[in-house]
Amino acid sequence: MDTISVSDARRAEAVGRTVRLRGWVRTRRDSKGGFSFLELNDGSCQGNVQVVAPGELPNYEAVVKHLHTGASVAVDGEVKASPAKGQATEVLASRVELLGDADPETYPLQKKGHTFEFLRTIAHLRPRTNTFGAVARLRNQVSKSVHDFFQERGFLYVHTPIVTASDCEGAGELFRVTTIDPDAPPRADGKVDYSKDFFGKPAFLTVSGQLQAETFACGLGKVYTFGPTFRAENSNTPRHLAEFWMVEPEMAFFDLTDNMDLAEAFLKRVITDALAHCHDDLEFFRDRVDKGVFDRLRGVLANPFMRVPYTAAVDILLKSGKTWEYPVAWGKDLQSEHERFLAEQHFDCPVILYDYPRTLKPFYMRCNDDGKTVRAMDVLVPGVGEIIGGSQREERLDVLEGRMREQGLNPDGYQWYLDLRRYGTVPHSGFGLGLERTVLFLSGMANIRDVIPFPRTPGNAEF
Ligand code: 4AD
Ligand code: MG
Repeated sequence: MDTISVSDARRAEAVGRTVRLRGWVRTRRDSKGGFSFLELNDGSCQGNVQVVAPGELPNYEAVVKHLHTGASVAVDGEVKASPAKGQATEVLASRVELLGDADPETYPLQKKGHTFEFLRTIAHLRPRTNTFGAVARLRNQVSKSVHDFFQERGFLYVHTPIVTASDCEGAGELFRVTTIDPDAPPRADGKVDYSKDFFGKPAFLTVSGQLQAETFACGLGKVYTFGPTFRAENSNTPRHLAEFWMVEPEMAFFDLTDNMDLAEAFLKRVITDALAHCHDDLEFFRDRVDKGVFDRLRGVLANPFMRVPYTAAVDILLKSGKTWEYPVAWGKDLQSEHERFLAEQHFDCPVILYDYPRTLKPFYMRCNDDGKTVRAMDVLVPGVGEIIGGSQREERLDVLEGRMREQGLNPDGYQWYLDLRRYGTVPHSGFGLGLERTVLFLSGMANIRDVIPFPRTPGNAEF
């Protein structure tokens, strides 16, 4: 007898097979005819399979009739064509074994319709709900698409470090990594002496793998890194996490236009794959979370992204006649309300803003000849706002050193990075896509805490 998944058992081709299934009971319904229906889910797909447990089972009275929501079971039986609507198959059980009961007095997932806020407090159990199953499968699909897309295009997957001494974004939002005893730190000249620390100098969790990815791109051509990144920014918003996953391709010989083309093709591929492989989960999101999800995704595929210089975007915002919570002016950072106005109302499609003021962007972005802007690009999408940030990199040694000083960074700590410009420098570009913002965009879920297994936010590192 083969053990198969609920997903396989739901297919018409399974009819006639004798199989073993294992999973969790979502509901049990007892029929007057002296048998029971079990809705069984194992996470392999959005739907359950209906198990018909006949009263003749030897443990029917003692066990099956008392199975609780949340209990784990193993079921042997024959897959039959189902007479019921909405399901191709059902399983007529010849054996039902209780693996682990779930006490109905205390099991928190008794009923449906818990709020996402409540489910966050039981993040260890929310994988058993429809929503988090759908999110987990979608997140998995996006991760697969990332690798498929870049591997098919000849990119090398490089593993950049988690612990680093450099602040890539220069924003000082770093978590320190140390083995120093905070109650008795070694001191020199009245300050903590980090030369006595584990790495012999201050070290941090990475905010981005970009700088290290650049070293590989400037030698191997096209690379990408995909891993967790960490930001100690005190942003309590539905779009910020302190720990999130980022995909960062980095390409030698790419200018900003090449970079935009790649970013657009990449996002479109992620959407195409989600539509092809997560259709049932997207239908669930459409029915329960965001009824416009299919229109939004198909709309994005159908049209080219708008490409608009920052300066033109500021003009649009100033002339929009809207009152903003954060005022708009050239040289000021765009806020989520501005980004979403552009992507949702003004253009109603993804927008790539580029050539941002140099004062707003990190040291590594290539300076334009106007002396005021850099070759930055942000991709904004409806529903989320910024989903990608990237740039053409500054490949000129003297300009880059000047930019570091301008931003208060000491070039001494970045000699390895400057070496890329000292020896065989090339134009190159790259970008970072936030994985969780991508899942928000695809699903229509409202809060980033609900699209990562265990969210880390200010004041919260439970589980
Ligand atoms: O725009 P960011 O900060 O760009 C970089 O880190 C570059 N070094 C990337 C590169 O060029 N290789 O971040 C890139 C993306 C954002 O567009 C957003 O999707 C996501 O990462 N992101 C966050 N997601 C969740 N929580 C946060 N706190 C995030 N900060 C950035
Ligand atoms: Mg950004």
